[in-house]
Amino acid sequence: MTLPSPFWSDDATTLYQGDSLRILQTLPTASVDAVVTDPPYSSGGMTTGARQAQTSTKYVLTGTKVQRPEFCGDNRDQRSFTLWASLWLAECLRVTRPGGVLLSFIAWRQLPSMTDAVQVGGWIWRGIVPWDKTEGVRPQMGFFRAQCEYIITATHGPMGNQGRTRRICMPGCFRESVHSREKLHITGKPVELMKRLLDILPAGSVVLDPFAGSGTTLVAARANGMHSIGVEMSDEYCAIARDRLAGSPRHVDSPASA
Ligand SMILES: C[S@@+](CC[C@H](N)C(=O)[O-])C[C@H]1O[C@@H](n2cnc3c(N)ncnc32)[C@H](O)[C@@H]1O
Repeated sequence: MTLPSPFWSDDATTLYQGDSLRILQTLPTASVDAVVTDPPYSSGGMTTGARQAQTSTKYVLTGTKVQRPEFCGDNRDQRSFTLWASLWLAECLRVTRPGGVLLSFIAWRQLPSMTDAVQVGGWIWRGIVPWDKTEGVRPQMGFFRAQCEYIITATHGPMGNQGRTRRICMPGCFRESVHSREKLHITGKPVELMKRLLDILPAGSVVLDPFAGSGTTLVAARANGMHSIGVEMSDEYCAIARDRLAGSPRHVDSPASA
């Protein structure tokens, strides 16, 4: 299968528009160092009916003034979510070099499904790193604040066996607030959080995000001096990511520090 033309690219970043499962099949084997992604969780709502609601109904708090486009692929039931995730995770495994890393976000409801899918996809599941979004989020009176999302960590076979993963000890949890002014997607992640997560890799690494949304992973990869490939289905979010990437700074090592 041949690679489609990118929606946008420069010498550090390539963004494709389309279904990630289809586009992943066109990427060469062992061509990236890490998959760092935030798939649609299909997690909003307690019932099947509630899960079919628009993403803004499920994920935007009443009273929020900023309006962001709806996004797709967020209404699978638990079984189809697990099967679908195992398909794209298996394809990501093929595209990732042996020893490469997977970091995939998920919320509490689909956590068991995602850890199953990661293993079905052939990754070695290594753990779960909580992202503490701080006390600014989702109070539930009389119950616990929904304050954390989770980053599932895994590797393609034994860890860093090509010596390209950094020999540093990463934190076991991350505390980082969501800043509304930099959030361009309904479920957008903070750039600073993504930069801190990408610290697991050396500059020059190639990072793949098959659910790029507004391009936060790609923006963080550029800031950290990495190459990145993103895939996003929604044309509105592709346009938002393209405009953001075109204006985002790139870290370039000076010859003295290289
Ligand atoms: C949780 S959001 C990612 C948000 C991103 N981390 C950010 O900070 O902007 C997941 C994205 O995946 C996209 N998506 C859903 N199904 C897809 C598919 N099959 N292929 C490619 N993109 C898809 C959605 O449109 C959505 O923008």
